[in-house]
Amino acid sequence: MAKTTAHYVCQECGADYPQWSGRCEACGAWNSISEEAPRDSVPLGAGKTRKRSKEHVEFLQLDSPAAELPRRVTGITELDRVCGGGMVPGSALLVGGDPGIGKSTLLLQALCAIGGKAACVYISGEESVEQVRMRAGRLGLAEAPVRLAAATNIRAILDSLETDRKADGAEVLVIDSIQTMYMDALDAAPGTVTQVRACSGELVRFAKRHGITVFLVGHVTKEGQIAGPRVVEHMVDTVLYFESKRGHQFRILRAVKNRYGPTDEIGVFEMSDAGLREVTNPSSLFLADQPEDVQGAVVFAGIEGTRPLLVEIQALVAPSVLGSPRRAVVGWDSGRLAMTLAVLEARCGLALGAQDVYLNVAGGLRITEPAADLAVAAAIVSSLTGEPLPHNTVVFGEVGLSGEVRGVGQRQARLKEAAKLGFTRALAPRQTAEAEKHRKPSLEILEIGHLQDLLAHFATTAHITAEHTSQEDPLALTRGRRH
Ligand code: TYD
Ligand code: MG
Repeated sequence: MAKTTAHYVCQECGADYPQWSGRCEACGAWNSISEEAPRDSVPLGAGKTRKRSKEHVEFLQLDSPAAELPRRVTGITELDRVCGGGMVPGSALLVGGDPGIGKSTLLLQALCAIGGKAACVYISGEESVEQVRMRAGRLGLAEAPVRLAAATNIRAILDSLETDRKADGAEVLVIDSIQTMYMDALDAAPGTVTQVRACSGELVRFAKRHGITVFLVGHVTKEGQIAGPRVVEHMVDTVLYFESKRGHQFRILRAVKNRYGPTDEIGVFEMSDAGLREVTNPSSLFLADQPEDVQGAVVFAGIEGTRPLLVEIQALVAPSVLGSPRRAVVGWDSGRLAMTLAVLEARCGLALGAQDVYLNVAGGLRITEPAADLAVAAAIVSSLTGEPLPHNTVVFGEVGLSGEVRGVGQRQARLKEAAKLGFTRALAPRQTAEAEKHRKPSLEILEIGHLQDLLAHFATTAHITAEHTSQEDPLALTRGRRH
């Protein structure tokens, strides 16, 4: 028999240690390691003494005919799209998000929306059945055919569902939340890595065995990761994050992993007094109301997943009184901002070294696309010169380290969305694809091959280079020249 000893597990990342220490070497968290019960020893099967397994594994051909199961569609389009066009039977989805963001509300609404099309069960480990009923009442969904239970013992839940299957079964199951569930065979508190891992494993197997779609609600830590181990993210088929910026009504559901669909897809919702409402035209929502041309504000024609999305990017450049100027970013990557500033300085001769730079993406959206580089650069130049870009102009393009502007994907989709929302002009990279050259663009396109072409669109460019270039530095002008 292998000897079993207690082991120590980091509650943040799930790393395993033979002894306690104050800091987890894997994730760097302090005081996150705690003792957990011994694991069941796994029989070592190596060597000649190993017995043959009695279980037989059947191998199938990839091209052998398989019955394709139809996806379950909730009817909440934003949710269905993020799931990749509906939920796959037998799959497990993890929904993470800050407390109070609306995870329970979203899933309750989803179950009610499925309505009579599939048997739905909602299990709450946090609220009583009465409280869930009250919430459904507020949402105007009190009549929906959804079965409720307040339970936390995972074996009891799954056994009851298994017996129920013969009667009316369950096809969609919501577990709210995985951190409250426990398995009594394990000597660990609910919410610990061991419990969360074991309960998720059990639920994922149950889902696969019976073709049930299981939603797991997961809490997130202060750092924004799903609490407990990252291993849960590996176990499930789909990981969705529900997020919003503080003080914003908008909620964004984002797929970060999806075995049955694209990631980087987003669904936009608005929290109202009657629950979450879908926002089907998010572009109008992320564009701040612009009465006139505003300096430092630029509209970026972005793509989120498969959907074009116009967002306003705002920059403020102001002389700094600090030794090392401030660079503050909301909704974009600060490393990328530093790069864009360095390129503007080195390739276009703008002196930004002594300026504070603030960058904000309106509406609380977070942009990860490199295609936003050109829009950010345009916003910075506009704020620096005090000159707005002409009204009704959208901008997109990726900026390289030598200042060249590269083409980005889904050009037509971006232009189409901009035209649809009344924009008449686009600052865009040069056309590269032959096929696209023959297409008639829906709006006027001003091609930008290099950041210096962008500067030419600001009337006072001559004045920028004279006034804003550091004259003491004799290299500034040479550096500003294109190579
Ligand atoms: P909830 O779904 O309980 O969040 P989570 O499960 O992610 O912790 O959402 C609760 C919040 O949503 C709470 O702050 C109140 C708000 N809310 C509304 O504004 N309108 C509504 O109709 C409902 C049900 C909740
Ligand atoms: Mg909740």
